[in-house]
Amino acid sequence: MNQMLSYLRPYHSSLGIGPNVPSKAIRFRVGCVLLLIALLSTWFILTPARVRHSLIHTSQIPSNILGVTRSTPRESATNATLGFQRILALSGGPSWRTRGLKAAAAYTGLEIDIPERPNNSPELVDAFRQIGNGKKPALGAARAWLSHLDMLKYVIQSGLHTALILEDDVDWDLALKDQMLLVSDAVRNFTRADASEPSPYGRNWDILWLGHCGEYTVADTERFEYEDSTVLSHANYTGWAAPYITNMGEGHRLVQHGVNPICTFAYAVTRQGAQRALEWAEKGESEAFDVKLMEACRPKILNVVTVQPELMHHYTPPHDAGYWSEVNAGDGKGTDAGESAYESRMGGTENIIHSARCKALFDRTCLKPFWEQY
Ligand SMILES: *[C@@H]1O[C@H](CO)[C@@H](O)[C@H](O)[C@H]1NC(C)=O
Ligand SMILES: *[C@@H]1O[C@H](CO)[C@@H](O)[C@H](O)[C@H]1NC(C)=O
Ligand SMILES: *[C@@H]1O[C@H](CO)[C@@H](O)[C@H](O)[C@H]1NC(C)=O
Repeated sequence: MNQMLSYLRPYHSSLGIGPNVPSKAIRFRVGCVLLLIALLSTWFILTPARVRHSLIHTSQIPSNILGVTRSTPRESATNATLGFQRILALSGGPSWRTRGLKAAAAYTGLEIDIPERPNNSPELVDAFRQIGNGKKPALGAARAWLSHLDMLKYVIQSGLHTALILEDDVDWDLALKDQMLLVSDAVRNFTRADASEPSPYGRNWDILWLGHCGEYTVADTERFEYEDSTVLSHANYTGWAAPYITNMGEGHRLVQHGVNPICTFAYAVTRQGAQRALEWAEKGESEAFDVKLMEACRPKILNVVTVQPELMHHYTPPHDAGYWSEVNAGDGKGTDAGESAYESRMGGTENIIHSARCKALFDRTCLKPFWEQY
């Protein structure tokens, strides 16, 4: 609005309504305005209403007249928050993870906020682990789980309608915005979003799971398959779901209802989805937060839509630099080496051809081959 006002102000003053303006100039300008009105009304009378309507509503017309940016819902999937109201990253504080995240975001034109993560007391973490008689999460997994719950609460308390939640070691392709444009079309189609729905992905979902480490799909899964020239080949796809990737076409992606997605690298929530996911995941009694969400897919406790292959995947520093994930280290399965060990040497990302992190930090690609998986 401010921008628009400051745009209009010089225009008004250039009309020169004031004591020092020669009357000739005023007459000339009034003449111009009258001529313009005459031309416009002639156009109005002579152009059929239907044509007028389509001319005015076509997206070809520059949308930034008067500095107001108007874009179609699908176009906003390519904005700095990928068509969500905000992108929020979960993080325990500045580290190689967040520095890489910020570098990748700057390189690809994304706006990512990292709200301060509340610390949960050891007593709360322990009590959470003890809920019920089912599975109990390990210590690191329980801490990470509670942080996801805190983030869902943050989304609800901030009054957001949609938000994309990222883990802070996540990575994506340089072509992410083009990929999201296709996701917008596909999700709208698959969820039968109304044509008038202004949200780029519609809102007929609780969770739109964009970044994971595998999803199950077979030929007769109800799904919407589409071409995406930026997708990696089946031969290069790694992870537990590699045997299922051949159930879709080469050069394709698909959206479907969640069956077995694992790893919450990146997931979007609607407002209602955040509330539902919170109420479900607060029940504990599973291995980890991602597994708990996965368990809600098949029984349709949550309306989850997944994209396969994933658009986001976590970057990992070279293992021989002593890398352990935060969760694994928290579970006592290893100890992280120092920060500097990870920042000077390039690691890799599975299933992402042109890694935004590796481009931004090392000016290279770093697709991790299957034999380097761990
Ligand atoms: C991106 O688009 C969404 C949906 O229209 C909107 O809520 C969000 O504010 C936009 N982000 C930016 C940075 O303009
Ligand atoms: C969904 O996609 C199919 C196949 O591409 C197309 O025929 C159909 O018109 C689309 N539906 C909507 C609502 O966009
Ligand atoms: C797999 O990726 C490598 C780069 O890491 C590339 O050289 C190779 O051509 C890819 N293989 C296929 C089948 O696309």
